[in-house]
Amino acid sequence: MLEIRNITKTFNIGTSEENTIFDKFSLEVEEGIATTIIGPNGCGKSTLMNLISGSLPLDEGQIIVNGEDISKLSEEKRSKYMGKVNQDPKDGVATNLDIYENMALALKKNEKFGLKSLKKSADTDEIIKRLKELKLGLETKLHTKTGLLSGGQRQSLALLMATAKRPDLLLLDEHTAALDPKTSRNIMDMTRSLIDKEKITTLLISHNLRDVVRYSDRIIMLNKGQVALDLRAKDITEDELIKLYKKELRE
Ligand SMILES: Nc1ncnc2c1ncn2[C@@H]1O[C@H](COP(=O)(O)OP(=O)(O)OP(=O)(O)O)[C@@H](O)[C@H]1O
Ligand SMILES: [Mg+2]
Repeated sequence: MLEIRNITKTFNIGTSEENTIFDKFSLEVEEGIATTIIGPNGCGKSTLMNLISGSLPLDEGQIIVNGEDISKLSEEKRSKYMGKVNQDPKDGVATNLDIYENMALALKKNEKFGLKSLKKSADTDEIIKRLKELKLGLETKLHTKTGLLSGGQRQSLALLMATAKRPDLLLLDEHTAALDPKTSRNIMDMTRSLIDKEKITTLLISHNLRDVVRYSDRIIMLNKGQVALDLRAKDITEDELIKLYKKELRE
């Protein structure tokens, strides 16, 4: 479904800060399952996601989605295929717009419209129905600016928006890292049920190895520009993963 083929990425080429993150790196991500990338700080997890989404340019190689080479497409064009939620709750929603306007925008993704016509043509019942599924009471705050919501409320809304029009690929870069443990668990539960319900091909990044075993299907550890581990979550326990991870870091 997603094929990363022989990609190369070096930051600050030709300077003393030159830093090669990937050198002919390849990875295939299977359709309809949740694959989580783990690995130490700075190993290139976010860089990989940014190369997939197009927010960073590739030096070499190809990104293939559903058989189509999207490497030369702009980030905006690629967003047709992808939904993305990052770690920062400010990123996933338009904070100067209210909840209703944000949801209306997400439901109109890939269509041309003005804000006025957007509001007029938005399906209020549909927006309320979807917000109710979050069980956070956001359906009673339709006209609250999203900048006034808590981090957890915003991340939940961002996830709902990123999946409002079923994306071919969902990219989640530590999307619960800034939240308290209970809110983080709620959002991970919601993420998993969205993936299961819609069979969305999902690539996650996480440092929470226990969550990783609980919530993903496939686990890939990235270290020094290579795939260090490639495991099925059903085949290992949380403690086994922690042990394997530490062993890889020592080597
Ligand atoms: N835009 C950039 N310009 C220069 N260097 C960058 C840029 N983005 C990332 N890097 C460098 O690339 C390396 C990998 O960064 P990246 O953010 O991908 O790591 P990560 O695995 O996501 O780490 P973390 O777990 O801390 O989020 C780091 O050394 C970082 O400093
Ligand atoms: Mg990162």
